[in-house]
Amino acid sequence: MSATITISGWGEVKDLVKPIRVKVFVIEQNVPEELEWDEYDETAWHAVAKVNEQVVGTGRLILDQSKAKIGRMAVDKNCRGKGVGSEILKALINLGKEKGAQEFILHAQTHAIAFYAKEGFEPYGPIFDEAGIPHVEMRLYI
Ligand SMILES: CC(C)(COP(=O)(O)OP(=O)(O)OC[C@H]1O[C@@H](n2cnc3c(N)ncnc32)[C@H](O)[C@@H]1OP(=O)(O)O)[C@@H](O)C(=O)NCCC(=O)NCCS
Repeated sequence: MSATITISGWGEVKDLVKPIRVKVFVIEQNVPEELEWDEYDETAWHAVAKVNEQVVGTGRLILDQSKAKIGRMAVDKNCRGKGVGSEILKALINLGKEKGAQEFILHAQTHAIAFYAKEGFEPYGPIFDEAGIPHVEMRLYI
């Protein structure tokens, strides 16, 4: 499945990003809605993946000089396992590289470790709880 990926600021895409994050994190994964939205959304870059004009996935990149944090990666349940998540992740890494990032970090839900490892991320440190879901930090050095 080939998706069209665009990356924009929050103001431009929040109306597209919010429904898919509610569907995946709040409804499917029971993340409390007050934890889903934070101050980083305003300053992050947001990827939107579309197939046939429908939003099927998202993810965000928070830049802090040479460091970048990837998060809120979500693909609609009906579209998983078809490469959309990888396309989003690659697009966010490429944007980070263009902006000068040399180190990428993320908090991976443990079930998704293999997904991030395919793009070169390595686990770092112990498993911890975030929003009631086990996570591990993963890092990618450019
Ligand atoms: C994690 C997620 C974004 C992956 O998106 P996706 O579109 O299904 O991933 P892709 O199809 O691009 O998968 C790329 C590769 O990673 C692997 N992969 C994907 N999800 C995986 C998972 N949960 N566990 C292990 N491997 C996984 C695939 O097998 C695929 O490998 P392949 O290229 O050899 O076939 C998606 O499963 C999702 O939205 N999950 C619910 C929300 C979530 O958990 N987000 C992550 C928060 S850290």
